[in-house]
Amino acid sequence: MSVRIAPSILSADFARLGEGIAAVERGGADLLHLDVMDGHFVPNFTIGPPVVRSVRKVTTLPLDVHLMIADPDRYIDVFAEAGASMMSVHVEAVTHLHRTVHAIKRLGCEAGVVLNPATPVALLEDIAADVDYVLVMSVNPGFGGQSFIPRSEMKVTQVRALLDAAGNAGAPVEIDGGVDPGNAGRLVAAGVGILVAGAAIFAQPDPEAALRRLRAAAAGVPAA
Ligand code: DX5
Ligand code: ZN
Repeated sequence: MSVRIAPSILSADFARLGEGIAAVERGGADLLHLDVMDGHFVPNFTIGPPVVRSVRKVTTLPLDVHLMIADPDRYIDVFAEAGASMMSVHVEAVTHLHRTVHAIKRLGCEAGVVLNPATPVALLEDIAADVDYVLVMSVNPGFGGQSFIPRSEMKVTQVRALLDAAGNAGAPVEIDGGVDPGNAGRLVAAGVGILVAGAAIFAQPDPEAALRRLRAAAAGVPAA
């Protein structure tokens, strides 16, 4: 499957969210990435189930819900009910990861696990066969518009190899943080299947055009 692009609404104008979503749909977005933060697991607050529910009503795109919250087990059913299609939890936030991954699947969502920049890939060894995708954080989670941490590219390669070795070649590696047209092509070459981008799309004057630029860059087409 070719690379999918998931605009993160974190950098969108929340008062005009519907318009922003329509723009990235016109630009060819494959998914919408929704960042849920609780001011505890990460030092910022964002959206909760009511916003997911409202977004669900204005788009047919799959909703990729990234939970940056403490004790996510308490909330996965609420986010599934709100309309999540994919849901990811941080390995740093969950004690019984196998149980959580399978609980997300039973709710009818694709289950993803997320690694912070300082969390080793080896922690995924015993769950790699069970997950639907792995999200590699290429910034410390909490804020949009941060710089890409270069080591993350190597981490993508390691996660891709781990998933393949576990017989889970169909599970994509997603990357989140500091993705832009300058690094997208390299990341796809390293094994990324889902590119999340916030500032590179929604902080641009024309998000629809910005998405097309990112897609071209991901396909290795040099910028005009
Ligand atoms: C950061 C979030 C990201 C964020 C990425 O904690 O998980 O999804 O929106 O934003 P950019 O692409 O601006 O780094
Ligand atoms: Zn995210």
